[in-house]
Amino acid sequence: MIKDISLHVALDSRGRETIAAYLKDEKGNEAIAIAPSGTSRSGYEAVPLPRGGAKEAIKLFSTYKGKLIGMDAEQQSEIDATLHEIDATENFAKIGGNVATAISIAAAKLAAKGQGLELYQYVYRRFTQSMGIRKTIPFPLGNILGGGVHSNSNMQIQEILITNKSKGVIENAKTNIMLHNALGEFLRKRDLAIGLNIENAWISKLADIEAIKAVEKTADGLARLGFDFAATEYFSNGKYLFYDRHGKRRQLTRAEYFDAISEIVEKHRPVYIEDPFEESELESFARLTKEFGRSALIVGDDLYATNAKRLEEGIKARATNGILVKVNQVGTLTDTLEVVKLARRHGIKLVVSHRSGETIDAFISHLAVAFGAAYIKCGILGGERIAKINELARIQELENSTGKR
Ligand code: PGA
Ligand code: ZN
Repeated sequence: MIKDISLHVALDSRGRETIAAYLKDEKGNEAIAIAPSGTSRSGYEAVPLPRGGAKEAIKLFSTYKGKLIGMDAEQQSEIDATLHEIDATENFAKIGGNVATAISIAAAKLAAKGQGLELYQYVYRRFTQSMGIRKTIPFPLGNILGGGVHSNSNMQIQEILITNKSKGVIENAKTNIMLHNALGEFLRKRDLAIGLNIENAWISKLADIEAIKAVEKTADGLARLGFDFAATEYFSNGKYLFYDRHGKRRQLTRAEYFDAISEIVEKHRPVYIEDPFEESELESFARLTKEFGRSALIVGDDLYATNAKRLEEGIKARATNGILVKVNQVGTLTDTLEVVKLARRHGIKLVVSHRSGETIDAFISHLAVAFGAAYIKCGILGGERIAKINELARIQELENSTGKR
């Protein structure tokens, strides 16, 4: 039974305010969760904090928290429904999606503690096993070279990512780190390095095509490439500011841009492609998935915003074969589980993701395992990113030692 809830202002890795929720039960168990925060947000996602910011959100919520006190922490769907009821908007505009996320995740952690389980075990046994999901240790997928709104450089693509299939989470992560270091060397030697961005990916002077080539050369068979285009960010007035066939940056029509993307995919054979088109262009997603869906996971992040209604439209249009999952895009664990269930039913692969503004809370490592995710997108370096790797490695050891994989 939830005995107490206290909300606190916390800072994310970008130094911006977010929400930490502490929950206590009547047996003295405690759980804390901190909501991450995004920089390149979808138009469809929950409002992270209401007007007035974290302090205002906490003040507002304090008048309603009595509604949650006395509820059973295991009644996740009732708790989450109450959060929606208190908020009474479509997108948590009143109390803030980050308030909802912190409370929702902390409730799951508290329930897990009450049962003496790890969070991933609790979520799996209680929610995802019955969906026919098998718990899995996902492969880490990390941002190595950044552009777009994360970086403010010449690069339009928001993230060039790498992933590898070394044996074990720590070895996977070490390979990614080694390549991150190697890319840094490569860039510094040529005076092309600008620094590191908010996710600790490199920022360079290279524009997109040259940047892809640099990562490809560095990865050299040790890792495969992925891209998060976050294309909505460079789309306006019906056109994409991208590169034509001659490598010239200009405003491209949808048709010209589609060809440019196809060419990149054909040449560089990524295994992962996120948001290659703006968030309403379902037909282009579908065309790309038809052409390259056998060799690459094509994923909607801004496209779906972890929203079941959006995913349903995507499924109808056969838009993608994957979806990015970020709890605070939708606000609660229950809403997230609805997306997981729908994806599972239609063979859509899951990628559980961090946000650019993170904390050392590693709940996504637990969710990724319990959701049977193909990848965990959690960056390569930095305490808040490594926290996810370390937690995933610990889970892997637990799973290996109990032999219940
Ligand atoms: P974020 O974006 O800055 O909103 O976390 C990361 C992403 O687009 O995947
Ligand atoms: Zn994205």
